[in-house]
Amino acid sequence: MGLETRPDEEKMRIAPDTGNLKERVRQHWDDQPCGTRDIPVENRAAFFRDLERERYSWEPYIPAFARFDRAKGKDLLEVGVGAGTDFVNWVRHGARGQGVDLTPRGVELTRERLALEGLHADVRIADAERLPFADDSFDIVYSYGVLHHSPDTARAIGEVRRVLRPGGTALIMIYHVRSWVAFMLWTLHCAAKLRPWRSPRWAMYHHLESPGTKGYTKAEARAMLVGFREARVWTQLSHGDLLLMRPGEKYGGTLHRLLWRLYPRWLVRRTGNVFGTNLFIEAVK
Ligand SMILES: C[S@@+](CC[C@H](N)C(=O)[O-])C[C@H]1O[C@@H](n2cnc3c(N)ncnc32)[C@H](O)[C@@H]1O
Repeated sequence: MGLETRPDEEKMRIAPDTGNLKERVRQHWDDQPCGTRDIPVENRAAFFRDLERERYSWEPYIPAFARFDRAKGKDLLEVGVGAGTDFVNWVRHGARGQGVDLTPRGVELTRERLALEGLHADVRIADAERLPFADDSFDIVYSYGVLHHSPDTARAIGEVRRVLRPGGTALIMIYHVRSWVAFMLWTLHCAAKLRPWRSPRWAMYHHLESPGTKGYTKAEARAMLVGFREARVWTQLSHGDLLLMRPGEKYGGTLHRLLWRLYPRWLVRRTGNVFGTNLFIEAVK
């Protein structure tokens, strides 16, 4: 049975794209590609190795979700390659890889990593909402932590479906709104500022990573999977929910540092994946 309802974006109670939101998203990620704070000028290979080790030790569920070896000999598109760690893994495992990102910086970094390892794949600038590929082009489309940053997430998921071959698999991670991260952001930016009527969605939209970041419930995620034959949707506790990373500059204030120290990680772990920030989708066209 097809999954056929469209999400009601009104329900998101967030401001519509005012025209330059995508440009602001692009600017944000061009200035700070995911996970690459303080990228050194020299010894780039060592830096990229550390980046990869750190990523998969904080997020061991990524290789488990992707199962990179499933792409051997297949046509794979990654939407939103960022600094390219997962993309390089797809190509290392024998995928005929095609990568896209909204930012020149993400494309440059990913090309650099491929070149450092002597790997070959096409990586180019493109918008998830208008993928420059023909219908039915790929066996697998992978997009990790990307589509919730694009102003029209439902449209981007529609594009993923369009470029997949019938029987092909979409592997997508977007953010979950019923999560510890959304609750923390609401505590800091709404409750602590005496505006508790603002929602966790609002807090994510205005205070999580690039401007306009959205979080979805599992039902809302399912509603965006229009035209897929079958889908599995589940949530996962992330390193963000557990505050494993030391706060960056943006979160250097006293309140943030206190929260990082006093945060009840044991309690968060005990509740398991139900309130995890990562919402995973595996859907077959
Ligand atoms: C949080 S980073 C994730 C990068 C990578 N997938 C990872 O997991 O490290 C978000 C990425 O999505 C890209 N992005 C955001 N909106 C996009 C869009 N409309 N089209 C293509 N890429 C987009 C950004 O440029 C950025 O590289």
